[in-house]
Amino acid sequence: MSGLTGIDRVVYGVEDMARCRQFFSDWGLSLVSESAGEIVFETLEKSQIVLRPADDESLPPAIETGSTVREVVWGAASQTDLDAFLSRIASKVTLTEGADGLQRTTDSNGLTIAFQVSQRVDSGVKGTPTNTVDKANRIDQAAPVYPHAEPVRIAHVVFFVPDLEAARQFYVDTLGFNITDEYPGRGLFLRCVEEGTHHNLFLLQTPDKKRGLNHVSFQLRDIYEVTGGGIHVSKQGWETQLGPGRHPISSAFFWYFFCPAGALVEYYSDEDYFTADWQARQHEPVPENYAEWAIVGGISGDTRRQKYREESDLPPLKK
Ligand SMILES: [Fe+2]
Repeated sequence: MSGLTGIDRVVYGVEDMARCRQFFSDWGLSLVSESAGEIVFETLEKSQIVLRPADDESLPPAIETGSTVREVVWGAASQTDLDAFLSRIASKVTLTEGADGLQRTTDSNGLTIAFQVSQRVDSGVKGTPTNTVDKANRIDQAAPVYPHAEPVRIAHVVFFVPDLEAARQFYVDTLGFNITDEYPGRGLFLRCVEEGTHHNLFLLQTPDKKRGLNHVSFQLRDIYEVTGGGIHVSKQGWETQLGPGRHPISSAFFWYFFCPAGALVEYYSDEDYFTADWQARQHEPVPENYAEWAIVGGISGDTRRQKYREESDLPPLKK
């Protein structure tokens, strides 16, 4: 067990601050503060997206060219937990204290990660129950049609890594993350908690991309919000990469959009939840394990019907 509870903050270095500001506003985040050098958004539970100009020299080094994530800040439940975590890893990694007082290190991928007592709060929001054949969980209540999404939390981040074994040693052996599922030799789904949702971190080794961001993912309250949120983002003119759809691994309903801050962002809901009893599975990296089904190009915000794209535009079936 790592002692960490989840992602508190993702810091991007971006080439177009105004465009990224518009994107994350349309994405449904709340604006916390803005200046020429920094824009801060937050989710309902106060996990933060921070935007800074890519050439800001105070940013940690980039792991790829262009707009991308420059730092991930992980939260611990208390100062006691944070201190215990830091003392456990102190002999195995190089920790440096930044001007903000946070302890930082560099992961096996060259990405800067930092640690703090979590600033996240209980958002208090409730999802909508679904009715199954054996149990009416929603009685005298219609399921909602959401006009837009309000992301609850930054649930996971996904990176391409050049050396999956080095990543396993760093995050599992050194930091204490748990493996939930894996594509042997290709990908590791990791959760920083023993009991919790399917993954907070997914690391992917592919022949064609060595190092970089794949996506940042936002958990919504229920599957209805994934649909309503995605349609809203589409109506604002942002382009779907893939979605809506469903991942057989994690069970989540998803919708991926191209993001001007770098790579992709994802809305999702209805992810599997695990305890210490869960035994990590191994999966073949085949398309049907990535998506049970998915719509390429998304759904039009105007017609509410699927957008047609050429078969040749199909994105690679990798997570
Ligand atoms: Fe994801």
